[in-house]
Amino acid sequence: MLNKIFLSTLLAVGLVSCSTPEPRTEVVIDQKYQEPHRPQYHFTPDSMWMNDPNGMVYYDGEYHLFYQFYPDSNVWGPMHWGHAVSEDMVHWEHLPIGLYPDSLGYIFSGSAVIDHQNTSGLGTEADPPMIAIFTHHEPVGAASGTHTFQYQSIAYSLDKGRSWTKYEGNPVLPNPGIHDFRDPKVFWYDEGQQWVMILAAADRIRLYTSPNLLDWTFTSEFGGEKGLGGHGGVWECPDLFELPVEGSDESRWVMLVSINPGGPNGGSATQYFVGDFDGERFTLDPSIVDDVMADEEGERALWIDFGTDNYAGVTWSNIPAEDGRRLFIGWMSNWQYATVVPTERWRSAMTVPRSLHLVSTGSGYRVESQPVEELHDLRGEKVSFEASGAFVAYELEGIDPGQVELELALTWSEGTETVALKLSNEAGDSLVIGYHPNEGELFIDRRGAGLIDFNEHFAGIHTAPLQVEENELELHLFLDVSSVEVFANGGERVMTDIFFPRERMSKAELFSQGGGAELIEGFGWQMGQIW
Ligand code: FRU
Repeated sequence: MLNKIFLSTLLAVGLVSCSTPEPRTEVVIDQKYQEPHRPQYHFTPDSMWMNDPNGMVYYDGEYHLFYQFYPDSNVWGPMHWGHAVSEDMVHWEHLPIGLYPDSLGYIFSGSAVIDHQNTSGLGTEADPPMIAIFTHHEPVGAASGTHTFQYQSIAYSLDKGRSWTKYEGNPVLPNPGIHDFRDPKVFWYDEGQQWVMILAAADRIRLYTSPNLLDWTFTSEFGGEKGLGGHGGVWECPDLFELPVEGSDESRWVMLVSINPGGPNGGSATQYFVGDFDGERFTLDPSIVDDVMADEEGERALWIDFGTDNYAGVTWSNIPAEDGRRLFIGWMSNWQYATVVPTERWRSAMTVPRSLHLVSTGSGYRVESQPVEELHDLRGEKVSFEASGAFVAYELEGIDPGQVELELALTWSEGTETVALKLSNEAGDSLVIGYHPNEGELFIDRRGAGLIDFNEHFAGIHTAPLQVEENELELHLFLDVSSVEVFANGGERVMTDIFFPRERMSKAELFSQGGGAELIEGFGWQMGQIW
């Protein structure tokens, strides 16, 4: 954007000479990705279909993001791994496709690691291989009703992920007869000096170990029908990692498991478990058991994000110890309607990158999410909103709500039924994000937010339980053309929703109902584009 303004200013004052002076047209050098609904600071594919993030690994100054990609259509099809790199997880460069389908099948979700000790023998210790571990999905077997059409394979790269060779001994983990058997996440378990693979197997998790990424041994299972966690759908895209317990010198292990359907507000969502891991077996922490013992519907779970649009999220591998963060990104859509959302050139985006934190609360351990600080780099000038006094309606002026980061500290008097932020446009669309004190619930209402009738499940009001103290709520929001991410009370509760306004949102207004609310403090930053 700056470049564009700079160049047109130079042209206007005649500092740039053109060989053909008339007619004079504006030179636009930054018109990339301006289609309706295209996010400006979230990762999107240049064109065509995208779903899950895959192969997220950090190596030699670059964050790699591979993703489920179908280059021939804007709906799901034979899966490839698209590829992009970034030095900060925020600004991305698209690279050529990383992995193509082959005779063993489509390339489904998986992970990537750096094999520093060259345990696989596929590189050298001086030049360690980057290894992708993914599911091969064999479509003919899938269509003909067999159960063994998904198995795990690997590919390696010796040039920082730019080119890939599939391992000739694929698959490295054949299918034992489980219909849904996919999405391997692999990590090095230092204490045991071996690799660990966590895999989704229908309604449960399976764990395997390996000395070399090539030979895998089954060690244990976790979950299972109506046992633990949500069971409204199939388990997918797991992750397993250790997190320090904030404010202590202890740590626990966190397991992420995406589930589709069965999310708290319908369709796809990501649940988590907290416990211990001994290198072979994950055991649930006793403080968590009651929260995740499935009820009759098999529905009790803890959720990473209560919005409808954060799915299949996993964390980056090989983040340097000096950094120490556990960095997460999710697919900002939902299988209920992902293939029919009203965009043409491309379909879907990733969430902003987040760091995950483990806190000990009165009711057990909880995972909180925070947007990464690297996002500050996109911030324009800081706008401070004046403390409001009690309001019924209060406009947030001086920002463009189409593309903004907001931090709002709100309070309200007893009896207040709703305190909320409403985004609206000239077309009459409105998106409402707020809190119902009486119900103790955070909500996003996208029923009136523009295009909704492309799918029966899309319009809705989505809620998340949230108890606050002393009638105070902090909302940290990221709005980007067609998405909102809400981090409430420092990331204690997160909601991510997409929406499709007929015009860009142009007005942001706080309102309250049945009492009175006040803005204690508020800030906004216009957000730049990442390309
Ligand atoms: C999750 C998922 C994965 C699978 C991939 C296929 O969204 O269903 O389980 O590997 O998408 O594209």
